[in-house]
Amino acid sequence: MSKLLHKLPLTALAPMQDVTNLWFMKVIAEYGSPDYYFTEYFRVNETSRLNRNILASITENDTGRPVFAQMIGESIPDLVRTAKELCRYNIAGVDLNMGCPAPRIYRKNVGGGLLREPEKVNRILGELRQAVNDKPLTVKMRVGFENTDTFYDILDLINYHSIDLLSLHGRTVKEMYHGTVKYDLIAEAVRYVNCPVLANGNIYSATTALEVLDKTGAAGVMVGRWAIGNPWIFSQIRQALRGEAITSVPLVEVYNYINRLWQAPAAENFPQRARIGYIKMFLNYVALLVDANGHFLRLMRQAQTEVELFEVCERFLLNDETKTLALSPLQKI
Ligand SMILES: Cc1cc2nc3c(=O)[nH]c(=O)nc-3n(C[C@H](O)[C@H](O)[C@H](O)COP(=O)(O)O)c2cc1C
Repeated sequence: MSKLLHKLPLTALAPMQDVTNLWFMKVIAEYGSPDYYFTEYFRVNETSRLNRNILASITENDTGRPVFAQMIGESIPDLVRTAKELCRYNIAGVDLNMGCPAPRIYRKNVGGGLLREPEKVNRILGELRQAVNDKPLTVKMRVGFENTDTFYDILDLINYHSIDLLSLHGRTVKEMYHGTVKYDLIAEAVRYVNCPVLANGNIYSATTALEVLDKTGAAGVMVGRWAIGNPWIFSQIRQALRGEAITSVPLVEVYNYINRLWQAPAAENFPQRARIGYIKMFLNYVALLVDANGHFLRLMRQAQTEVELFEVCERFLLNDETKTLALSPLQKI
């Protein structure tokens, strides 16, 4: 990395289950890698073993960028065991998920459920800190469970256990992915903790990244869903940070991106319906950057076969060479 790049705020691709696998990381790398990747979470419990597909995103990663291995769980001996196993691989560090909002997850008091129990978090981080002593130990979390009552208690624990990096999504667990992101609380965390903070939540363009960095003073930004819609976002963020003009992406390039996603090795073995469903998940975000009237979104959702789906993509992406991907969503989600 050049000296200049080092001085820029950090960028990271947010971990996303069923999205940020090895293939997607490679695809993102084609368009401009972030500084850091995070794996999907490794589930940890009494019987868990390291998931081989997730492990591949570490062992076969040729993006040239470091990868944090994320774990989700609450059983302390098993978290310690798994963290030690992960440390044998070429990882940037071990990351603990304290933000997952899926009810089936938080009901087991893992992921975002842990934010209700600072005492448990204290024990987990204490043991993990001992186990992960020669690599960074990091946390990804939200600002609270139902409210922000435990926010400062948890931040105290981040400091007490010398956590090396905090990725903070500025919503509570109960807010899931909706509602305003509380960048003011991210700014509070930046002031309060001793480690760098990555601001996360609704960073949908290079311009938003700059605004969020300005509002929060964070060390960097973590981008999730909008990297699905716009895999060029990390290089665009770097351009914006350097004060350069942001390069627009012709829609034909977006078509090629969709083709790449279609070729994902995991999806190739899916039955047709599942493969279509898989690609639509990505297209949900792409569509919002292509067509302000919502026609692309609606028609792509209606497509049932590969032929129908690619006809829709061709119609919206290949019929006007002058059109480019919007730099921020054209509709609210
Ligand atoms: C499909 C999907 C899967 C996710 N899986 C994970 C995960 O495995 N671990 C995690 O910490 N967060 C996960 N998240 C949350 C994201 O990392 C991120 O915090 C959230 O999407 C907000 O950022 P964004 O607005 O940039 O998308 C997931 C989000 C989505 C949409």
